[in-house]
Amino acid sequence: MTGGGTDALRGRTVVVTGGARGLGAATARAAAAAGARVLVTDVLEDEGRAVAGELGDHARFVRHDVTSEDDWRAVVDLAERTCGGVHGLVNNAGISGGSHALEEQTAEAFRRVVDIDLTGVFLGLRTVVPAMRAGGGGSVVNVSSAAGLTGLARTAGYGAAKWGVRGLTKIAAVELAADRIRVNSVHPGMIHTPMTAHLGIPGGDGGYP
Ligand SMILES: NC(=O)c1ccc[n+]([C@@H]2O[C@H](COP(=O)([O-])OP(=O)(O)OC[C@H]3O[C@@H](n4cnc5c(N)ncnc54)[C@H](O)[C@@H]3O)[C@@H](O)[C@H]2O)c1
Repeated sequence: MTGGGTDALRGRTVVVTGGARGLGAATARAAAAAGARVLVTDVLEDEGRAVAGELGDHARFVRHDVTSEDDWRAVVDLAERTCGGVHGLVNNAGISGGSHALEEQTAEAFRRVVDIDLTGVFLGLRTVVPAMRAGGGGSVVNVSSAAGLTGLARTAGYGAAKWGVRGLTKIAAVELAADRIRVNSVHPGMIHTPMTAHLGIPGGDGGYP
């Protein structure tokens, strides 16, 4: 996905989950700058509407919890009814789940981060893929993390989920290639966003959320 005012995504519709702020909002802006219609989705309604409003007529906000299959269905239905389908999906929504030693992370907290960061990506794939296939193909970008490439202490739930996103991406890429659907993961290092702002690393590095 390219930005910078090119026309690379003209005529395409891109769904960006967690698009209300941080990396998702930046992705939505880049997709719009490349000419896409953008569905900005998030559980944060005011922030999500503000981002979509900033992008003008070609963007729309949808309240969407990525752990809800019904919400996913509603996003795809809207895209098919009003935007000519779904051509791009950026599975960006996520939480860090905090920093805990493994034995201090509760099962509930572990399940919560896996539910949003991994199961949310799975639900997105299984809901969006039929629409993409019907449209002749598409591209899915799953936002994992550098924590999905290495063993990072104190991230049992988050790291497991992000490793899971990497594996799920490879499985989906192999399964869906014949349908002309590309599936890739990206693995950012530390980036200053609302998720990481409390760490006091403006523009810095030295760990992964
Ligand atoms: N910031 C970093 O340094 C960094 C590094 C590597 C990976 N990532 C990943 O990038 C993605 C974006 O992170 P960010 O730093 O912009 O964080 P952020 O907290 O600023 O943004 C995440 C967005 O996801 C939304 N969200 C959370 N739970 C949701 C749910 N159940 N349904 C829908 N939306 C939900 C939040 O409301 C928020 O708007 C995440 O997947 C994160 O794990 C971030």
